[in-house]
Amino acid sequence: MNYKEMTKKELLEELELVRQKYKEYLKCGLNLDMSRGKPSDEQLDLSNDILKIDTFKTKDGKDARNYGILDGIEEAKELFSDILDLPKENILIGGNSTLNMLYDCIARLYMFGDGENKPWHKYDKIKILCLVPGYDRHFDIMEEFGFEMININLTKDGFDIEKVRSLCKDDDSVKGIICVPVHSNPTGVCFSKKALENLASLETKAKDFKIFYDNAYAIHHIYENIEIDNIFKLCKKYDTLDRLLYFFSTSKITFAGGGISMLCGSDKTIEYTKRHLSKQTIGYDKIAQLKTVLFLKNKNNTIEHMKKHANILKPKFDIVFSKLEENFKDNAILSWENPKGGYFVSVNTEKNLAKEVVRLCKECGLILTNAGSTYPYKKDENNSNIRIAPSYPPLDELQTAMDIFCICVRLATLEKMTA
Ligand SMILES: Cc1ncc(COP(=O)(O)O)c(C=O)c1O
Repeated sequence: MNYKEMTKKELLEELELVRQKYKEYLKCGLNLDMSRGKPSDEQLDLSNDILKIDTFKTKDGKDARNYGILDGIEEAKELFSDILDLPKENILIGGNSTLNMLYDCIARLYMFGDGENKPWHKYDKIKILCLVPGYDRHFDIMEEFGFEMININLTKDGFDIEKVRSLCKDDDSVKGIICVPVHSNPTGVCFSKKALENLASLETKAKDFKIFYDNAYAIHHIYENIEIDNIFKLCKKYDTLDRLLYFFSTSKITFAGGGISMLCGSDKTIEYTKRHLSKQTIGYDKIAQLKTVLFLKNKNNTIEHMKKHANILKPKFDIVFSKLEENFKDNAILSWENPKGGYFVSVNTEKNLAKEVVRLCKECGLILTNAGSTYPYKKDENNSNIRIAPSYPPLDELQTAMDIFCICVRLATLEKMTA
């Protein structure tokens, strides 16, 4: 059934049928949530053995319970170095959240600059390039600091480099770009070699230009193992290492609220960060660091652990894709991306329908991420992008949630077509 090939009479008949189905769901009083990319209880249970670890001596005999070790214990640096192929000397271990680390990095740039250039608060305007659709919490941070966010469209395996080049070249107020290079939130884009080369070799007017490189889903593969080029090595090659602020965490490897995070950057960046950090804290939670390392052990073991996550996530993503195909394969009123991993499925309704779809779902008891959230200032000019987060609900709930979602897409589209 293809709505675009139907007569008005046929569309009105279909609308009546779809309305009936929608009303049935309304009566069910459901309470379903596909709004945030939270690991399910089953996924969290994979790491419960962490809670049994009660060692507190680091491998060099330090006491993880006590003050100190500002930049993190050696073995935690070694673990991230192993997983991400980064030099351990250039790694700083943080608390349980990359977002917190990112926020602090931006706050330091805003208050103190990067150690060589004036603080960002001294500029009339700071512009940050934001890849869209993207992660709402990234945009929230930029908005909080009053930065002007400029949309840069993602492409199949990168981003609109021409636009980025033209914006950076002559404008000193363009100070950074924020990206999720693997299984990006929400589209699942993975950067090609060329995209990464372009990023590392960018010509910028700003001397204090920064690449906020949030590799949140580096090893979170579901359908295909993706390995991208090493941005640290590329920045080194192009002599742009001082730009790189590389973030990663174990939030979606062990416990989302109880993992550890990482910042990687040039020698200068790490020294500078430590200098300021020492005024902020005596040290992060090293017990969490030690437990994480003793549980994950090394890259190979972590990769095996991630396969267990993938085994739980795959049937959920399969449901999403099979429902989308069943409903929209021959009815092009909705398009979607096919991520190879990560936590999300990004879909696009016809123009100006996303808010209505999200509203209709909410009426039925299905909560989705607000339409518009995947864009800076919550402004999706086409009002068409919706982020589906299938990780949290159990399989049976997800089936129902997707049925409701598909009915709501049909209903909103038919109402518009017949209006
Ligand atoms: C791209 C991205 N970065 C960061 C985070 C949050 O990471 P953390 O828990 O380490 O703050 C998420 C969570 O959804 C995310 O999607």
